[in-house]
Amino acid sequence: MATFTPQFLDEIRARISVSSVVGRKVKLIRRGREFIGLSPFSHEKSPSFTVSDEKGFYHCFSTQEHGDVFTFLMKTQNLTFPEAVERLAEEAGLEMPRKSVEQVQEAARATLQQQAVEAGCGIFEDALRGPDGKKALEYLKGRALTDETIKRFRLGYAPNGNVVKTKLAARGTDPALLLETRLVSPGKDGRDSFDFFRDRVMFPIMDARGRPVAFGGRVMGEGEPKYLNSPDTPLFHKGQMLYGLSLAREKASADNEIIVAEGYMDVIALAQAGFTNAVAPLGTALTETQIALLWRFAPEPILCFDGDRAGRAAALRGAERALPLLKPGFSLRFAMMPSGKDPDDICRREGPAAMAEVLKAAAPLSEVVWNQLLAEHTYDTPERKAGFEAHAMAKAGQIEDETVRSQYRSLFKNKIYELFRPSRAPGTSYQGFKGGQKGFRGPKTGPRPAFPMAFPRPSTGTEASRGGESRVLRERILLAAVLNHPEIGDRVEERLGALMFSDARLDSLRQSALLHLAQTQELDFATLRAHLAHQGFAQELANLLDSDIYVHAGFARPQATADQALAGWDHTFALCQRTDLEADLKRAEQDLAENPSEQTFAALKALREQTGPADDDDQDPGHL
Ligand code: UTP
Ligand code: MN
Repeated sequence: MATFTPQFLDEIRARISVSSVVGRKVKLIRRGREFIGLSPFSHEKSPSFTVSDEKGFYHCFSTQEHGDVFTFLMKTQNLTFPEAVERLAEEAGLEMPRKSVEQVQEAARATLQQQAVEAGCGIFEDALRGPDGKKALEYLKGRALTDETIKRFRLGYAPNGNVVKTKLAARGTDPALLLETRLVSPGKDGRDSFDFFRDRVMFPIMDARGRPVAFGGRVMGEGEPKYLNSPDTPLFHKGQMLYGLSLAREKASADNEIIVAEGYMDVIALAQAGFTNAVAPLGTALTETQIALLWRFAPEPILCFDGDRAGRAAALRGAERALPLLKPGFSLRFAMMPSGKDPDDICRREGPAAMAEVLKAAAPLSEVVWNQLLAEHTYDTPERKAGFEAHAMAKAGQIEDETVRSQYRSLFKNKIYELFRPSRAPGTSYQGFKGGQKGFRGPKTGPRPAFPMAFPRPSTGTEASRGGESRVLRERILLAAVLNHPEIGDRVEERLGALMFSDARLDSLRQSALLHLAQTQELDFATLRAHLAHQGFAQELANLLDSDIYVHAGFARPQATADQALAGWDHTFALCQRTDLEADLKRAEQDLAENPSEQTFAALKALREQTGPADDDDQDPGHL
């Protein structure tokens, strides 16, 4: 990384005025010794943006943005500091400062290291086509990859033995380069060094310019680790690169859209299906650097992680990481894979159209954060309501950018108002309520995509022994209440979407009902029921809308008022959530016991903090 002396930076500032740089983007009017104009950082009608050439600064009174020529270019053109310096130095006719001797030597060494990795990559590619590589090539073909894809991603095979070490020694490559790039591992205790990758399918990792700098090697079939990755080397910094970026940048820039998947195979399968704008982090959680990198290609990269527990956890970690970094116009979106599937599965088994659907339904970050708040906190008493609000405001408070932060605050305040608002004057019955009546659901702006972002709750022994039955019953009650009272749909939709039912058929019914609720304005029981029956749920409906349920939960009856239905629904939902939390706790305790680490400990601690004081009232509400 180049460093610049303060003298050099001052020289640039002296030669290029702030107003000349800002003036290319903002129409400036002179006011005495300063200039004023409309802020490029907010959408304002009256100018609050001032520029002072004397002081060498701009200041925006509406967003409090403040800076010099360099920060202006960084902010408005998404440049890094060195890039902004380079651009302005060129404009000023200044030569970039010469690098130190050390830097020159480092750069020369990096070139040699890179050539060694390139040679290794070539050896693996050749081996895939040679006699040793038969099994590996069959493996890749078995995963439906075409020759073209294999070439595009330069996939290869690392044979058993010390092929890289011997071949490159024969070509006269300095053995130290092979160790520095970890193509070869140093032998311990005086033993010989040996090839790092053996009998693995090789996925070269390219730098931003498309030059191989590291590898991931996959076992064929079972084996640990599934993927062996190069450790960090002078050429390879896991947290600062994205797999596939050199190949994805063209489409990403053209479309202003970039997809972030979890794994190597996802990126490759997506590309083969036409989504050539996909990248992946390198087996670690998304870092700040990677998010910044993504934002250089698209304002709202789409995270598209696996539809399993790990994938959802990774998506949530991505959301957490991005939250403080949000800036006006820049965010993330989240496409949730159907449960148990990854993008590779979808592209291969269901095709590009299905994948496009999943991407299209991506939810904004704000929705994911809100759903997470709903999933993590209860709000069934005044104290818990206040606690919920505090959590929501604290969440928004993590956002560093003031304008985005205040947008989140008001969004959450509105949602909280909606969530806590009593549905209607007590005593009013919704018997005979027909859709189209204005006011209850409020105006809708066309069909919204349902976002059933469900967190999988694989049932555990503990869950079953601790009222697993009542869990299924509660799920049936929740559904029955909504089906009999579609008019509460708006109020429960989000929470129903965040809940995954343990019974698969019931869960499909849940999703269909949600989709229907989100797509229609007309809300009456008969239409909803006919629609679901038409989709093949007649039997389930008959079982569900049955007196057995009503014995447990009178509020779910069609005769109950909307207020009763909603109150009962809220309570039952809270109970369901508590069982979930307890199941999660058990699982986290088990994880910690099996694999004691800082992470598993932190996970357990976080869950414990959520449980709060236990409440033994396990009764279902709503006996009429
Ligand atoms: P996955 O286990 O989801 O693998 O890990 P995958 O990409 O779907 O691969 P296939 O389809 O089973 O072949 C996602 C990513 O996590 C990292 C890799 O980057 C992988 O692509 N990973 C996973 C490792 O680095 N090491 C491992 O042992 C496993
Ligand atoms: Mn996979």
